[in-house]
Amino acid sequence: MRYAISGDTKIVSTTSFDVVIVGAGLAGLYAALNIDERLSCIIIAKESIDISSSWLAQGGIAAAISQDDTPEHHFEDTVVAGAGLCDTQAAKILVTEGPFDIETLVKLNVPFDLDDHGELQFTREGGHNKHRVVHAGGDATGRETVKALAHIVSQRKNITFLGHCCLFDVITDEHGVLGVVAKYNDDEFHLIRSDNVVLATGGIGQIYKSSTNPSIATGDGIAAAMRAGAKLKDIEFVQFHPTGLWNKESTGHEFLISEAVRGEGGLLVNSNGERFMVGNHELAELAPRDIVARGAIKEMQRTGADHVFIDITSKSEEFLKTRFPTIYKVCLTHGINIAYDKIPVCPVQHYMMGGIEADIDSRTNIKGLFACGEAANTGVHGANRLASNSMLECLVFGRRAAQFINTQKKAAPRGDIDIKSLPIRPATELDYTALRKTMKSVMSNYCGALRTKEGLEVALKEISETLYSLESVYSESNSYLETLNIAAVAKSIVSAALSRPQSVGSHFIE
Ligand code: SIN
Repeated sequence: MRYAISGDTKIVSTTSFDVVIVGAGLAGLYAALNIDERLSCIIIAKESIDISSSWLAQGGIAAAISQDDTPEHHFEDTVVAGAGLCDTQAAKILVTEGPFDIETLVKLNVPFDLDDHGELQFTREGGHNKHRVVHAGGDATGRETVKALAHIVSQRKNITFLGHCCLFDVITDEHGVLGVVAKYNDDEFHLIRSDNVVLATGGIGQIYKSSTNPSIATGDGIAAAMRAGAKLKDIEFVQFHPTGLWNKESTGHEFLISEAVRGEGGLLVNSNGERFMVGNHELAELAPRDIVARGAIKEMQRTGADHVFIDITSKSEEFLKTRFPTIYKVCLTHGINIAYDKIPVCPVQHYMMGGIEADIDSRTNIKGLFACGEAANTGVHGANRLASNSMLECLVFGRRAAQFINTQKKAAPRGDIDIKSLPIRPATELDYTALRKTMKSVMSNYCGALRTKEGLEVALKEISETLYSLESVYSESNSYLETLNIAAVAKSIVSAALSRPQSVGSHFIE
């Protein structure tokens, strides 16, 4: 399928910008701020600025800044977590350029937490052999960073921000990108012409039953890029965070208990209070995330429980209230005082290492199409992402995309896309809620943290049938588009998982 729109989609306006950025998380905002102020730039976001995975990010941003750390140490931890599949060049760029971007954020007034001497405070998370994770608002790093950058974006004259604007398609001709078609306010379709489109659309969490991702994480950028002919890479590598707050009834969007809680001394225990990561890995609770997630699942299988616990009661209530204000408050609303009670947790989908294949300047195989942040695969994460490297990737490769675009000459004028000439599909409404529910179950049961070849084959058959039925019809609703995108990305994940018979990193075949 080339386009989600149809020949009878009514476009109400056409506008032009030098750069279109899709997504208003950290990668999108930071890319926009690095665009030359002489270039006109529009950021379109599916919802408002406070709905993104970046906004929800708790732990922090990893960078080799402290006295006893070096980019080489950070590189080693990154490639060990990535199970040897990281792209060495991209990972080196990440760790060597990362400190510069943290300094830039400090200059842009991101309110990082400081120690008693007014220096950046560092914490440790899984897979890190050093304390190198900077944080803000205790456990609200994403929210504080996005707020600070969004404020500066709002003052930049060359940047237009349009919320509630949902990407439908990336438009191309034989020379490359021509722009995007997006729907504003769930109502009007707009064609935004541009020679440069940056996809910073985040992840795919809504493909799974339980995820830390927000409701908008339906893989829209990845699916639109795929329809446009962009290559995907490593899409089978899906990360499960070991410690989503356990709920009897999964809500689809689960609250995260940050890995930083373990970094500050939290222990993973079963219902008898026994630590189960000791003996599993030399870093125990702070082993790379895939290992801890599988450790928790195995412990749940062994004991028959549907959750395990984090115990951080060794710390004082005063410390926990300051260091983890959000976690402290949210847990209280669930009747858990983390200073006295163990926190029930279980593994939940959290991140996708794979995505739209992008080079070190965030370029895809389509001229003028860029991808950065979680939607992209720059190769820095390999088969499993090191904790708090995701926001760093947003910064380094968001900036590099902008810097590349800044060096480009304006392309010669090209003709418009003739939307009326596209195939017209029959307008039909399907039961999107039911389709999504079934796909979530299929993906969680057969393509989660533990997989089998037989299960993946079942998943491929089911998802392919759903995708076929969705591709045969058309609807202008966002629900249709999201369900179509979920099916397309889910099929790619399952197909890629089937074509990798050996376990590696987050891809674990039993
Ligand atoms: C966390 O705070 O545990 C999440 C950080 C990350 O995903 O890197």
